[in-house]
Amino acid sequence: MRQFTYISTAAALAESDIDAILESAQTRNPLNDITGFLLYNGRNFLQLIEGPRSALMTLMVRLAVDRRHSGIVRLEDHPITKRVCPEWTMHRIQLSESVDRRRDELDQALPPALDAVVRRTVLNFASLN
Ligand SMILES: Cc1cc2nc3c(=O)[nH]c(=O)nc-3n(C[C@H](O)[C@H](O)[C@H](O)COP(=O)(O)O)c2cc1C
Repeated sequence: MRQFTYISTAAALAESDIDAILESAQTRNPLNDITGFLLYNGRNFLQLIEGPRSALMTLMVRLAVDRRHSGIVRLEDHPITKRVCPEWTMHRIQLSESVDRRRDELDQALPPALDAVVRRTVLNFASLN
């Protein structure tokens, strides 16, 4: 299994578009043995996906041509022996409006088993405005 984390720049999207992305991800991911979480700050996405390598690669190809975002940048990519979020078919972690509170709240909301390096990377995303 692998775990892959990326950021991307969102197109002009409404909240209903984010809901639609999540809904389809939550339907499709169990079929592909993929779990993970999604952050959206109004301009950027950060997504962590984990599962069989081939399933992740197939999803990455789809993501790369999805016009709802662009400029995918890989932050982390490594093999894992155990999922960090086995229960999350695709869970949106809501970011607090307050930048001051955002980092702490995100730290609480992230899966406890998340690797320290990945955690730091994800927390840095919360500091973006
Ligand atoms: C930010 C973002 C996150 C996405 N996450 C997933 C996901 O976790 N799983 C998934 O199947 N599709 C996800 N999608 C949708 C895929 O890009 C793609 O539209 C979907 O897999 C359907 O592919 P198809 O149109 O080739 O059938 C996401 C799209 C965006 C913009």
